[in-house]
Amino acid sequence: LAKVEVELASIPEGKNAVIKWRGKPVFIRHRTQGEIDEARQVDWKSLRDPQTDDSRVKKPEWLVMLGVCTHLGCVPIGESGDFGGWWVSFPKRDGAPPFCPCHGSHYDISGRIRKGPAPLNLEVPVHDFNEAEGKLII
Ligand code: FES
Repeated sequence: LAKVEVELASIPEGKNAVIKWRGKPVFIRHRTQGEIDEARQVDWKSLRDPQTDDSRVKKPEWLVMLGVCTHLGCVPIGESGDFGGWWVSFPKRDGAPPFCPCHGSHYDISGRIRKGPAPLNLEVPVHDFNEAEGKLII
């Protein structure tokens, strides 16, 4: 199956990259220490889809997940939302009407669903790191 390699040095701390993988957007977030701490402090057992942050990342500073809302499949956008992570508006389109055809799901900085109708956390694709070459392989 098709693999994608991403040069980690090209994504500074505190920034995202979005790549395409098997026709889907994949979000790669180089998290800051503050974001990692925030993700770990959450009372994960109380979440709708209870997962620890550690179970969602291979390396705490790299969050990798599919940019596909688990509600009806819109592409979450932005770096805002109530929980400091990704939130779902509508896929960016030229001339889109100023209302959201999606439904306002908020994800946190670990990609976990926190508010809105989505049932599950954003999916984490199988991935690995090539330390020697400083690459992420999805
Ligand atoms: Fe994301 Fe409905 S598709 S909230």
